[in-house]
Amino acid sequence: MEPRREVECFSDRGEMVRMEAERIVARAGDSIGQRARFLLCLAGGSTPKPLYELLATPPFATRIDWPRVHVFWGDERCVPPDHPESNYRMAREALLDHVQLPGTNVHRIRGEDEPSKAAAAYEELLATFFGSGEIRPKASFDLVLLGMGADGHTASLFPGSAAARETRRWVVASPGPQPGHWRVSLTPVLLNTAEDVTFLVSGANKADRLKDVLEDRGPDLLPAQLIRPTHGALHWVVDTAAAARLRGDYVKRVAETGGSERSHR
Ligand code: 6PG
Repeated sequence: MEPRREVECFSDRGEMVRMEAERIVARAGDSIGQRARFLLCLAGGSTPKPLYELLATPPFATRIDWPRVHVFWGDERCVPPDHPESNYRMAREALLDHVQLPGTNVHRIRGEDEPSKAAAAYEELLATFFGSGEIRPKASFDLVLLGMGADGHTASLFPGSAAARETRRWVVASPGPQPGHWRVSLTPVLLNTAEDVTFLVSGANKADRLKDVLEDRGPDLLPAQLIRPTHGALHWVVDTAAAARLRGDYVKRVAETGGSERSHR
């Protein structure tokens, strides 16, 4: 069954980030109200950085009950946590250093360790939250944020990789795009059990691939097309530049005023 999918297009990355910050405040409030915690899985890369920075500033910073938030990562580069390439470092500098989130609620992937060991350790950590011994937990994160590369990768699931084809493990080590550089990534097995998976895609360089991912069901699915929540919602939050080649009337164009109208292209 197709997951509930929504594609919202914003005039620019600033508008996109502001609206997503509002959504995260609302989702955190709902999750904390219902389960006394909000399990948030962060994306790496550059797109989400302004979102994290916005969440770290008033009024957003004071509208989330941070001591009840747990943060995780969808993937990590196999580098030390203070390395410029580290997804943990980016989130720490943009967000975690500025909000009252207890250190015990920060669950980073140990990029400094041997990749397969780091993957196994992270899977064990996740099993303490989502139960172990079963292929798919009944539920996992309240919200997973993901980016998408111009090649259609997401997290560190690259086209043609064994990691993208994984059907059992929740976390795997995988060679990165640069030779000799490894990554650790959550796999679709776990990502697809989240309550809400939201892709943040910005920029003209993503337009061609975004069209492929959303409108082309070719025989070889791109990794971003493998993200199909089994019961949760799937949101695509994009800017006009990234959405430039989308044709379908499924795209909700959100005007500056925050209103929305269906595209008529
Ligand atoms: C990473 C991310 C990766 C990223 C995409 C998009 O570790 O780099 O997990 O999947 O989201 O490559 O990156 P940009 O947001 O920088 O375009």
